[in-house]
Amino acid sequence: MSSTDLTALETELAAGIAAAGTLDDLDRVRVAALGKKGRIPELMQTLGKMAPDERKNFGQAVNTVKARITDAIEARKAVLEEAALEARLATERADITLPVRPGPESEGRIHPVSQVMDELAEIFADMGFSVAEGPDIETDDYNFTKLNIPPEHPSRQDHDTFYFSPNEKGERMVLRTHTSPVQIRTMLNQKPPIRIIAPGRVYRCDSDQTHTPMFHQIEALVIDETTHMGHLKWTLEEMCKAFFEVDEVKMRFRSSYFPFTEPSAEIDIAADAIGKPGKWLEIGGCGMVHPKVLENCGIDPTRYQGYAFGMGIDRMAMLKYGLTDLRAFFNADMRWLKHYGFSLLDVPTLAGGLSS
Ligand code: DAH
Repeated sequence: MSSTDLTALETELAAGIAAAGTLDDLDRVRVAALGKKGRIPELMQTLGKMAPDERKNFGQAVNTVKARITDAIEARKAVLEEAALEARLATERADITLPVRPGPESEGRIHPVSQVMDELAEIFADMGFSVAEGPDIETDDYNFTKLNIPPEHPSRQDHDTFYFSPNEKGERMVLRTHTSPVQIRTMLNQKPPIRIIAPGRVYRCDSDQTHTPMFHQIEALVIDETTHMGHLKWTLEEMCKAFFEVDEVKMRFRSSYFPFTEPSAEIDIAADAIGKPGKWLEIGGCGMVHPKVLENCGIDPTRYQGYAFGMGIDRMAMLKYGLTDLRAFFNADMRWLKHYGFSLLDVPTLAGGLSS
């Protein structure tokens, strides 16, 4: 090979190096030039057949070209690596001036019913109550009989009960018509002193502007040796003040009848606090637990007594948050929820405010 050919080869290889657009391209060029079977080693092999003089000169010339090509590849490699890094940095750049995208924690809402349940749980937890639960599908016995509402008792009619078909033993399960069966479950499983609340869903076959077939109640039960009506009144008053977040709530206990309490009363609150002066609103029923109910649960009524109450949670949510149509609660309308729902991150606490 002549020195002119060698110059042509160098020019060709240099052009290949300059044209390599990526590190992969460049590597292919390197292998073709300097690899085992590459153009330069190929030339080296021809040296053996040359006369010693010629070999020396040509060998030096090839080595010089080899060195320049190696340098050129290194230089190109540095350029390409730099460009690759720039490109990666450009794609991985975070624009910190962009506004934060709303995620589930800011888009989602807590339903007013859940909010009120959380608020009440917080209030009662502060008074030493724990939260008890029972199933929505309840036995007739717990929903009625053990609560001193035997079969054929007239008050069963008031409940517009959803009944299941009778099982093989002829027993009918019901969708619980109130949270009061949780009283029974608690007394059967726990020894006094007892202090529980039980929020949950209840069902009655009833539907109009102020009634839905499913709604929510919160039950409370306190059983101890010296518990009396005064404790019941105080507890309800404290609850109302804390719940409505006011210093004073006027309450009225209206004599009433429930088979599972004696005496029994209906609880009214003065609506002044919520902007309806002169009006009373019924929020639930209460009374001293009937001795027969204690007996039905294996608790000695000569030693223990206690009080119970049950309130409508949906009603309380409507009063506190100025919601007028109960049916809207269960329409799953996102616009309504967005407007009336609560932020996920604002957990109600007595210290930090229940509904801040
Ligand atoms: N369970 C009753 C209802 O749904 C409400 C009630 C009244 C609950 C008096 C009680 C109570 O615990 O003592 O109509």
